Amino acid sequence: MTTIQLNIEKSLSFISKTAIDAYADKTAAANKMLHDGSGEGSNYLGWLSLPSSITEAFLSDIQQTADQLRRQCDVVVVAGIGGSYLGARAVIDTLNNSFDWLQKDRKNPVVVYAGHNISEDYLAELTDFLKGKSFGIINISKSGTTTETALAFRLLKTQLENQVGKAAAKSRIVAITDASRGALHKLADQEGYKTYVIPDHVGGRYSVLTPVGLLPVAAAGHDIKQLVAGACVMEKTCGLETAFEANPAAVYAAIRNELYKSGKKIEIMVNYHPKLHVVSEWWKQLYGESEGKDNKGIFPASVDLTTDLHSMGQWIQEGERSIFETVISIAEANREVVIPSDVENLDGLNFLAGKRVDQVNKMAELGTQIAHVDGGVPNLKIVLPALNEFYLGQLLYFFEKACGISGYLLGVNPFNQPGVEAYKKNMFALLEKPGYEKETEAIKSRL
Ligand code: PA5
Repeated sequence: MTTIQLNIEKSLSFISKTAIDAYADKTAAANKMLHDGSGEGSNYLGWLSLPSSITEAFLSDIQQTADQLRRQCDVVVVAGIGGSYLGARAVIDTLNNSFDWLQKDRKNPVVVYAGHNISEDYLAELTDFLKGKSFGIINISKSGTTTETALAFRLLKTQLENQVGKAAAKSRIVAITDASRGALHKLADQEGYKTYVIPDHVGGRYSVLTPVGLLPVAAAGHDIKQLVAGACVMEKTCGLETAFEANPAAVYAAIRNELYKSGKKIEIMVNYHPKLHVVSEWWKQLYGESEGKDNKGIFPASVDLTTDLHSMGQWIQEGERSIFETVISIAEANREVVIPSDVENLDGLNFLAGKRVDQVNKMAELGTQIAHVDGGVPNLKIVLPALNEFYLGQLLYFFEKACGISGYLLGVNPFNQPGVEAYKKNMFALLEKPGYEKETEAIKSRL
């Protein structure tokens, strides 16, 4: 079975192999804490065995719902924020043809997003775009009370009902939420929407392999069976039986903790394919929310290369030496574009004639890796044999497992996010939400 590979070679001039190997017992202990639920946050470990516990029947049900949306809708709006949309968008953006949404004869609905910001302009433009279009909504919120998502859904639901009537709207709305709690659960029950449950023991940022990720991905026309099959492979590969050096999640967790101790406080996720942009956004949430607490944690950043070499390249090469980078490298592009020869050669590019664009991209990747290592930036590389559902499923689970292990190595609870409440409390106070009278008075004196 081919798997994604973690290559650590270009970090070894910064930290020794002995220092990494010294983590074997600690990572095994952290992995065991995850599996026996003896660590902090053990109420949220449902994601650990999620891939292998997903049944064919469950996937078929999701596929049927997705197919119904695909039949009825030219546009599917995925409403959610943070863990309730980034995983789905990461997979969809990576697998979609970049220009499919512009094609008149496309086979798949256009997927757009809402509920991940409170920009009036964005919502007004979305409303304009949806006018007269046949659209459906996948509304995702575990708590069912997230302001960004609830606000967008209120607008979208009203628009859909106005455009097609309440009864038809009902068949185009799917709710994904908590089994029994929250405003969305109640609303979905009352309105009779098709509903999927986000299991209690799976937190938002670990929920991509629940209906939160699977339904939008299937609605966009991608193979959720392969996504789950890939995750299953990684579930096994990163399991308790695997020795340290063969467990990429343990090795990745060990190295990033060792680099952090040596003063590397920022990890930059790097890709050479813009389609992977949102995979980095998903990863940033996963690691940022899991580790950034108790005044600790690596700051997760990201760049899309070679694009950002022309903007951030200078900083990475010569700025403060507090960074390391992790590259998601794709062994071979899915499509082939060969560079043509030109008789006049005015652009001087004939030395590339006959080569694939992917070869040029690879040399840029290798050249950058060496330049950055020479500039004092340790480099880790995760190699995907190809960009498809199977390897993406592996990648997502790999990152989740490594995050759990890494958080326990760091000594934090990787499954809570207490700090996220601070802005909400202030926002509600400023908006004079009932129940926030005392906070409103206090915050107004600080404006
Ligand atoms: O990881 C998390 O818990 C968060 O990112 C949530 O997913 C996000 O805040 C959305 O919450 P909810 O699904 O309750 O609307």
